[in-house]
Amino acid sequence: MSDVVENTKEQQLLELKDAASKRLAYRNEQDTKRKALKHARFEEMREATPESGAEVELPRKRFYRQRAHSNPFSDHKLDYPKTPEDMNWKKLYPGFYDEKTGKMTQNVEIADIGCGFGGLMVDLAPHFPESNILGMEIRVQVTQYVEDRITALRRKHAEDACNFQNIAVLRGNAMKFLPNFFQKAQLKKMFFCFPDPHFKQRKHKARIITNTLLSEYAYVLREGGIVYTITDVFDLHQWMAKHLEEHPLFERLDKAWEEQDECVKIMYNATEEGQKVDRNQGSKFIACFRRIPNPEL
Ligand SMILES: C[S@@+](CC[C@H](N)C(=O)[O-])C[C@H]1O[C@@H](n2cnc3c(N)ncnc32)[C@H](O)[C@@H]1O
Repeated sequence: MSDVVENTKEQQLLELKDAASKRLAYRNEQDTKRKALKHARFEEMREATPESGAEVELPRKRFYRQRAHSNPFSDHKLDYPKTPEDMNWKKLYPGFYDEKTGKMTQNVEIADIGCGFGGLMVDLAPHFPESNILGMEIRVQVTQYVEDRITALRRKHAEDACNFQNIAVLRGNAMKFLPNFFQKAQLKKMFFCFPDPHFKQRKHKARIITNTLLSEYAYVLREGGIVYTITDVFDLHQWMAKHLEEHPLFERLDKAWEEQDECVKIMYNATEEGQKVDRNQGSKFIACFRRIPNPEL
């Protein structure tokens, strides 16, 4: 009897090992394919530098396909700094690093949370030359696309007034590690453009605007800083507006304010998701909020 049990256990172990090695082989194969594609993309860009007299090509989205959603609660084995002081901003914004002092000459002041393919940052870049703009994105391939897009834009516009040195993307989960990246009151603007709607009631906790997260956003935003939201899902618009209105550190800005603000105009048209909504003739709902001072205790 015990021999039978031993044999079954051994058999199960062998099967587990076999499944694990198959998974590993599959992952290695995928990784090799991705590296080959990445190499191909960079070859395209290298051949087309300004020195070669040709146009710099921008990356193509079809090389960077990924599932539409990424679970914000799963452990993505993300790298994040222990504290904001540990963050290596030089790597992301080499154009604003002073070798002599070893310090950044300007800091991230604008964040695009869930930046997707990066269209908003690209359009904001020339309007905020004195601020670094960071896109935070959870999906790997999408982040890689934005990285390559920015590399290409920096090359293409190296001699122009706007050389895109002030935009960068970081793979990260904004729902988990935001205060690890930013100091208290570091940001002056935060954008939430077409966030994932998580329609089902039991999935609402995965929405990027919740009471707890709003307190984190209020922490990294300075007094007078602005939260911008836009969505094509009316229910989500109401959800975001309600949570922000109920939070003691935010006040709603009115239509007149929205109409005169240049970022609202940019946000309305710039993002890839917003352009998709236009193509489908959908509606867009905007709500903007100011970070008000902490109440005196
Ligand atoms: C519907 S897309 C909108 C993308 C972009 N803002 C636009 O308007 O084109 C939502 C994006 O948020 C990203 N995202 C979702 N949850 C996130 C999180 N917790 N942290 C960072 N990015 C997240 C998704 O991967 C996706 O790219």
